Amino acid sequence: MSSSPQHFFHELDRELRKAPSFHLWAEIPLCRYRCHFCQFPILVTSSKPESAAATAHRWVDANIQEARAWVQAVPALRTTPVGEFCLFGGTPSVLPAEEIERLVTFYRETFVIDERTSLRAEGSPDSLTHDVLETMHKMGFTALTYGIQTLDDRLLEVANRRHTGEQALQVRAMAKQLGFTRVDADLVWGLPGQTVAGFLRDVDSMVEAEFSTVVATKLHLRSFHDVDSAIGNVSAAVWEDPRVRERLAQRGYRWPSVGQQLQMREAGVDRLAAAGYYEHPTTYFVRRDMGPQVWRSLNLDQDKQVPQVGIGLGAYSWCERAEANVVAAPAQYLDRVANDEIPLENVTSVSPEHCETRAVQMALSTCRPLLEEVHRSRFPDSSLLSGRWGEVFGSLADRGLARIDRKAGSVALTEAGTTLVEAIINTQLGG
Ligand SMILES: C[S@@+](CC[C@H](N)C(=O)[O-])C[C@H]1O[C@@H](n2cnc3c(N)ncnc32)[C@H](O)[C@@H]1O
Ligand code: SF4
Repeated sequence: MSSSPQHFFHELDRELRKAPSFHLWAEIPLCRYRCHFCQFPILVTSSKPESAAATAHRWVDANIQEARAWVQAVPALRTTPVGEFCLFGGTPSVLPAEEIERLVTFYRETFVIDERTSLRAEGSPDSLTHDVLETMHKMGFTALTYGIQTLDDRLLEVANRRHTGEQALQVRAMAKQLGFTRVDADLVWGLPGQTVAGFLRDVDSMVEAEFSTVVATKLHLRSFHDVDSAIGNVSAAVWEDPRVRERLAQRGYRWPSVGQQLQMREAGVDRLAAAGYYEHPTTYFVRRDMGPQVWRSLNLDQDKQVPQVGIGLGAYSWCERAEANVVAAPAQYLDRVANDEIPLENVTSVSPEHCETRAVQMALSTCRPLLEEVHRSRFPDSSLLSGRWGEVFGSLADRGLARIDRKAGSVALTEAGTTLVEAIINTQLGG
């Protein structure tokens, strides 16, 4: 149900006061190029260094100004420990080193970011230079996430990426040498021109390079609404245009069939599993010795699900009883921030029933078993094994998609259920 910003701030403040921590996310919506598959609300910076530096300065200023408005509206943000601070994008690694320092210093001074907080930064292989990585590490970042998509230079070029596969692997080596303890990267399957064998070669190279997490996402071209999409607003991707798709196919970049896509996912998961990677949450394959990313775990684990605050263009914030998006239109964003506003749109209040449904959906998306004991501690009048949930999981179990262990008091997805987890969440669990 649609609601007011004041309601959202009130709920968030109330929940933060009892939460052990929260997930804080700063969004810098700048990139040096727009990839042809990307639906994120980003701005492409100028190739002229002076203009690019001025744009970077403006967006760091705006982010800081918006963050100031948040702590004023939600005082508990100043006192609740930050579990993971994520500097996300776009591509924040396109910021000059001094802008990264300015932004992170402000966040460190304003929020409870201390030795308990993990700091994660995002970037792209072409902008994660030795200097930028060194600056990030010096500022306390120990976790790194970046987009690779594919290690095949031909496919990278056609997607309008400006780096090679080799460069992407060099960033991994540099980050390790500089002391990052966790290095995660994204692959996409279903790209035009990609073959099953080619995708599996990429997976093997990622394993060989010892990435801590391999995020393997299916190419989405229409709706990019994941179970827990970090970005609530999307812009059209170049490849959504049927004429562009057709021209690509004519140039020999064939779109993988549904059967080939299924093979990519299944064979990819098998290889990752054989190398000691497991899925948590869906599409994130984490190395067993590293475990899940802190923010994913804070957001989704059945026993955590702490509030999230996203600051920046198109950012998404939520707590148990309400959620909100920041606008995704750049000019409107900058105008409203200049007026000391938090430029929210789509503020929604969450009913008790939906709050419970969402908790189960998020927990299921981790691909880990759901425990009756944890569920009852949060929702004393409800059970995973009877009533509404009993019916849902019973029906999934009848179709071989879930396993119910009444003695242990747990419900888990089977392998087939894990493959279909997004569809199960969207169609079987109710909104
Ligand atoms: C913010 S970007 C990662 C950092 C950096 N901007 C880069 O691209 O290297 C987040 C990730 O979203 C994924 N992504 C973006 N658009 C997508 C789409 N249409 N389908 C699937 N994954 C997509 C890509 O894997 C990308 O790496
Ligand atoms: S995929 Fe990354 S680099 Fe490419 S446009 Fe999107 S956010 Fe920017």
